[in-house]
Amino acid sequence: MAYIFTAPKRTVMGENALSACEAYMKQYGTKAMIVSGKHVTKAGMVKTLTDSLDAWGIAHALFNDIPGEPTVEMIEAGVRAYRDAKCDFIIAIGGGSPLDSAKAIAAMSVLKGKIPDYMGKEITGEFPPMVMIPTTAGTGSEATKFTIITDTETDVKMLLKGEALLPDLAVVDAAYTVSSPPSITASTGMDALTHAVESYISKRANAMTDMYALSAIKKIFANLPKAYADGSDMAARTEMAAAAYQAGLCINNASVTLVHGMSRPIGALFHVPHGISNAMLISACMAYVKDGCEAKFADMAKAIGAADERAADSAAANAFLEALAKLTKTLEIPTLAEYGIDPERFAALADKMAGDAMTSGSPQNCIRSVEKSDLLKIYSSLW
Ligand SMILES: [Fe+2]
Repeated sequence: MAYIFTAPKRTVMGENALSACEAYMKQYGTKAMIVSGKHVTKAGMVKTLTDSLDAWGIAHALFNDIPGEPTVEMIEAGVRAYRDAKCDFIIAIGGGSPLDSAKAIAAMSVLKGKIPDYMGKEITGEFPPMVMIPTTAGTGSEATKFTIITDTETDVKMLLKGEALLPDLAVVDAAYTVSSPPSITASTGMDALTHAVESYISKRANAMTDMYALSAIKKIFANLPKAYADGSDMAARTEMAAAAYQAGLCINNASVTLVHGMSRPIGALFHVPHGISNAMLISACMAYVKDGCEAKFADMAKAIGAADERAADSAAANAFLEALAKLTKTLEIPTLAEYGIDPERFAALADKMAGDAMTSGSPQNCIRSVEKSDLLKIYSSLW
């Protein structure tokens, strides 16, 4: 069956990437709304961007009221700010939250109704041009047609999607990720790894996503521990920035599956950051999936050097799971208990979480078929 492979319209990647973007930015408009977070603004990265915009004669307004993972209220405030400042395009600079917010703000500046109206539908429309500059190597939002917005009324992390949400320009420069502290480096890096692994075991995987997935998995196993141990390791940061982008392309085209499906409810109900809740789940979920596709797990083990080329699928698949567990330990990813989650409240909400995960549709993309009862078993295995 034919498949479609989509990516941002343009990508500029590497050292001083922003300096190569003047002509593109001028095509997009005359006044940019910069969507960011206060930490990124304080760290001086917004100033680097505004200095370039000033030099290029592009006016700008700053919206940095994205204090955490985006909610419907934050997006509504962003849409008002965009209209009030009379901007004609959007530049997001930051981690996944500002990038996801910018997509939703661009869409809702044109679409009618409320964000929850668009959950589960293909979003279409002509939206203001979007430029994405990631400052973490993780979410891959700069490469995807997705945005995740939390509905605080229902405690649901809504997955919104559509090719119209694909960025016009992704600017990927590892220099922006150097100030990420070790905990953020670990959680965002594990998010990127989860994207690559999940797309590789997705029913919707294809030759293009498989290529990027194995590349990203290899880069992340080799470089995430280095970037975690020494944030100034530019070689490791560069590899991680490329891996996160590649992993973003993977989920853009092969989708996320079980881990993200089960992770979003933990994030929405227990306020665990996205990368951490994925990392808490990935080993248990992959142990479940492995029985349906040992050969694919063997491929991943061989890509990272955990098994040699002659190893039997079943031994190599187990070696991948062992490497995954070792990586999570090296990165000091907390368990649910270590994170301080109350086991009784978790048990009481497990049914809602499994239901919300199935409703999202993500688990059903998994190569091994899953039922709500399987999700409940995996949730309880985390304790
Ligand atoms: Fe993710």
